[in-house]
This record gives sequence, structure tokens and C-alpha cells, in this order.
Amino acid sequence: MKHTRGSREAWAQLLRVCAPLLISALGAGCIVHHPAAAPAATSATSGAGASSSQVAPLREAATAAHRRVGTALMSARLDDQRVRTLVAANFDSLTPENEMKWETIEPRPGQFVFAPGDKLVAFAAANNIRMRGHTLVWHSQLAPWVKGLSPDELHAAMVRHVRGVVGHYKGKVSAWDVVNEAYADGPSGQLRSDSPFNVLGPTYIDEAFKLAHEADPDAQLFYNDYEIEGEGSAKGDGVFALCKRLKEAGVPISGVGLQMHVDPRHWPPVDSIRRNMERFAGLGLLIEITEMDVPVGEIPGTIDEKLAQQRTIAHDIVAACVAVDKCAAVTFWGLIDRDSWLETAQWGKLRGRLPHYPLLFNNAYQPKPIVLGVMDALAGH
Ligand code: G3I
Repeated sequence: MKHTRGSREAWAQLLRVCAPLLISALGAGCIVHHPAAAPAATSATSGAGASSSQVAPLREAATAAHRRVGTALMSARLDDQRVRTLVAANFDSLTPENEMKWETIEPRPGQFVFAPGDKLVAFAAANNIRMRGHTLVWHSQLAPWVKGLSPDELHAAMVRHVRGVVGHYKGKVSAWDVVNEAYADGPSGQLRSDSPFNVLGPTYIDEAFKLAHEADPDAQLFYNDYEIEGEGSAKGDGVFALCKRLKEAGVPISGVGLQMHVDPRHWPPVDSIRRNMERFAGLGLLIEITEMDVPVGEIPGTIDEKLAQQRTIAHDIVAACVAVDKCAAVTFWGLIDRDSWLETAQWGKLRGRLPHYPLLFNNAYQPKPIVLGVMDALAGH
């Protein structure tokens, strides 16, 4: 734990920025937890051990570091004023957690459902938040009708889908996960075998990027995947080879998204993550951390010890991003712990024992210690 000096400075900065706002408190750009106004978090509110009187001007800290900091949301969460306040104050990037995926946005052939995505886009525009579109071509959360198509029909469907979605959000969504999770887990280093898009041949990836670029030439276009964060995995090497080939072929790819669903039981050293970012940067690509969460269910100790460890892990990963010029953004995959995909039994057990408390804010909407770890890293401590 090397945060003593950084923590003092972070706290001093927090007080400087937010003291004038304590009276008007919520909604002014800082999130304030006053012990008299809300009880200290307990395990019942998830994120036990969250410090009291914390403020979290994360967005300012990220801007000062020339980075973006983002969150992922379902559009219905915007009906909650606490969510709107917290997001507007702390984030300058927003990703739809599910509602721009194929099954939601084109549930029937050629019939697009843009309302949930539009709601997120309108909120982002009103709060000067960049939108990150997620995701155009992915084997999962596909509309069922896509799976029964012939190769020619599938090709036509992909063309219509990418043109339709990117065209609708032209000028409003400035970065897209064009292709998501196309590579296999394990030792093969090849495309995954269970994607219906494979029948189009491996250059379906090239074509998806070209179609997205034609539909919005100003949008940044990413390949996005998980467990490619560190060096030395076959999957990571496969994705690196793909990105190199795309760049050399002149395919309009802007960057790579490292999802960063941390599994503390087996996780690459942070130096390896930084060097991996550097090799992608060496191709001329941007890097974004696109879906970070740090589940602590499997970290031994008390809740306070788990959250302290979570703070250290998040600090070190964000510091790796800050150390690499072309690492442009860090997005956390959800806002409060209860929102996380990992807090459901269906998914959470992938990362060991529940609960995981994986996000920045607890269920009482208070910042957890992890926020200070992220801020320390953004401040270069
Ligand atoms: O749409 C149905 C809805 O009709 C039904 O009423 C409801 C009841 O369970 O389920 C809804 O579907 C859920 C869907 O999210 C939309 O909310 C699924 O059960 C649920 O499994 C699905 O989970 C999402 C998961 O992707 C699916 O793969 C998570 O919310 C989402 O966080 C997660 O995000 C992915 C990224 O897109 C890609 N990288 C990995 C990441 C985590 O798995």
C-alpha cells in the first residue's frame, strides 16, 4: 500500500473542490456523503467500509489527466435522480450496458428500436458526456432471427445493421465497439468457433469496420474483448495479430478495448498490462479500458480489507493507463454495486463467491475507497 501521500493530496483536493459546495451539496458537481444525512455504509448497502464525508469529482480528475472516465448504464436508470446527478458529476463517457446490442436495437429484421439508446444519448448530450456505442457485431445477445440466416442473408443483415445503427447515431455516438469478443478463450489464439459470423470468413471483421466508417467517418472504431489485458496469452496475441493485420490492410480501426473484468484469483501483473497497452499503441492504436469492474468476493479478509485491496488494484490499473499516452479512457461497467452484472448469481459465480461489490459507488450511492484509488492514479500518484 503506497497511497499515504497520494491519499492526503487527494483528500486535500477533494476538500478544495467541494467545500464551497457542501451547503448546496448534491447536484452541484460533487457528491457529498455527510454522516448526519446518511448512515455509514454497511454490508447491507454493499460497499461496507466506504469512508464517510467523501466527495468524488472524478470527471475533473480525469480531464486533468487528459483521460476520459466512463460508466455503463441501462436507460431506465436515468429515471432515478440520484443516478443522473452522480453520472453528470463524475463521468464524461457513457456506454449503454445492453440497449445498443443487436437483440434490443434490431429485434426484428430491419425494425430498429432506438428509444432506449436515444434516451442515453440525449442525457449524454445535455451533460457534455461522450457516448461510446456498444456493440455492433457480436455473437452474443444477437436477435434470435439472425441465427437462422443463410450466409448471403447474414451478410445482408450485417450490412443493414451496421449502416442502420451507426447511421442513426452519426455525430452523436463518437466511439463504437464495432466487433466484440470475436476471439476464442484458451490456447488457440483463433477466432471463436461459436460465432455465426464465421460463415462470412474472417474478413467479416474488416468489413464491419469499413461499413461503420462509411456510416460515420468521424467515429472512432474499436475492437473490444476480455482477457486480452496482459501479455502472454494466446487470445491476446491473436487479437494483437488481428489489429496489426487490420492496420496494415488500411482498415479504419482506431483502437482496442481492453474490457478489464478483473478476476483477482488469476490476473496478469500490472506491468504486463502496461506493456501490452504499449504494444497496441505501437500499432498506432488508441487503447481504452472499456468495462472495468473489480470483484472482491474472492479476496480474503474483512470487508474493509477487501475494499482496500480493490482500491489498490484499481489504482494500479488506472495508473497503467495514465502511463501510456494512447490509453485514452477508463470505463467502469456500471455505477453502483447493485447494478453490476456480477452481483447476479447467473454471472457473479464466474468470479467466485458473491457478493463482489465490484464498482465505484455503493448501494447508498456513496463513493467507495476505490474512487480514491482511481483519483490517485489519475493525479499521477
Ligand atoms: O432482456 C431480458 C429481459 O427481457 C428479461 O426480462 C430479463 C430477466 O432476466 O432478462 C433480460 O436479459 C438480460 C440482459 O442482460 C438484458 O438486461 C439477461 O438475462 C442478462 O444475462 C444480460 O446480461 C448482460 C450480459 O452482458 C449478457 O451477455 C449484462 O447485463 C451485461 O452487463 C453484460 O455485458 C457484457 C458486455 O456487453 C460485453 N463484455 C462482457 C460483459 C459482461 O458479461
